[in-house]
Amino acid sequence: MAVSRKIQKALEGASWIRKMFEEGDRLKQMYGPRKVFDFSLGNPIAEPPEEFFEELKRVSHNPIPGMCRYMSNSGYEETRRSIASMLSEETSLSFTGEQIIMSTGAAGGLNIALKSILDPGDEVITPSPYFVEYRFYVDNHGGVLKLVETRNDFSLDLEAIEAAIGKMTKAILVNSPHNPTGVVYSEESLIQLGEILARKSEQYGKPICLLCDEPYKKIVYDDLEIPDVFSVYDHCIAINSYSKDLSIPGERIGYVAISPLAEGKEKLADAMAFSNRTLGFVNAPALMQRLVGKLMHVSVDISEYQEKRDLLYNALADFGYSMVKPMGAFYLFPRCPIDDDVAFVRALQAKNILTVPGRGFGKPGHIRIAYCVERWVIENSLDGFRELAIEYGKR
Ligand SMILES: Cc1ncc(COP(=O)(O)O)c(C=O)c1O
Repeated sequence: MAVSRKIQKALEGASWIRKMFEEGDRLKQMYGPRKVFDFSLGNPIAEPPEEFFEELKRVSHNPIPGMCRYMSNSGYEETRRSIASMLSEETSLSFTGEQIIMSTGAAGGLNIALKSILDPGDEVITPSPYFVEYRFYVDNHGGVLKLVETRNDFSLDLEAIEAAIGKMTKAILVNSPHNPTGVVYSEESLIQLGEILARKSEQYGKPICLLCDEPYKKIVYDDLEIPDVFSVYDHCIAINSYSKDLSIPGERIGYVAISPLAEGKEKLADAMAFSNRTLGFVNAPALMQRLVGKLMHVSVDISEYQEKRDLLYNALADFGYSMVKPMGAFYLFPRCPIDDDVAFVRALQAKNILTVPGRGFGKPGHIRIAYCVERWVIENSLDGFRELAIEYGKR
């Protein structure tokens, strides 16, 4: 049976991340898993925290009647209330469960949010480099993704964002801490972004939505505080997930939070519940909702990621690679010593090191290294990075 032309085209340009992951599997079969250093996927190797398993045991030993049935498309009220009270503590606003929709991870959350706000041809602006799935998610709902380059340090280029906003702009989609660069946007830049959006919303006579994709919100380093996005702009929707901070990406659980100050927040919440149903998610996984509702302040040990960041960043800096020091998430995005990022990825691959070319994230000339791997992978890859730095004249 024929695959649609649209999907065929998408498959031809298939994700670099998947390509490199498959290449990793091939190399592991050839050389053995301990000889391959696979930094291609943001699939955390950390096990979920103890508390997750304790809660899992507690729920399975004390089954609640009907706990595996369908529920409201927004999710369990109890879980939504827990998230709302956590957000009320974290922000200056007062959230209720009505503004929370449980989702199948951040990916599901982004899709229900985009489905709920986009009309055909509406534009969504995102800073580039960017998480490449955004292109597909926006397209899923008839929107058009518009990229705006960031500055050299990957901070927001606010003038460029302002210039890119037009009458078709429905939303700005920002991700902080950021995949693939590890940057965290400063409070000052987010406040200015909020001011621009307020101005532009007034100019075009409709609220432009600020979509904040925050699956790495708890993974920040050096005691950095993540700015509260809800305080910078009223028409704000945050998308969050437990994939990374509880290390449970296979369980597909996250949520969408609509600002209590957003115009039309009740209709938006209804639209998202409807979209959860009609996109076929129906509701977020029931068991996971029960669990995360009790794990609001739990996360994996972030210090382990920070140690890995330090090990990799310090070594690569010492070898002469130029890069921005990640402030959060678990990605490093160095500049390649040669212009051609694909050629550099191939050179690393010849040393059994798997990374992803920056062009897969809209930024050629760089590579993405996902360091959510075991420490030995980083340690044993360093010789290869050093040898190539020497070969390409960085040392
Ligand atoms: C920036 C970003 N957004 C969204 C997602 C999707 O996360 P989830 O597994 O929660 O769907 C990812 C996953 O890697 C991500 O990096």
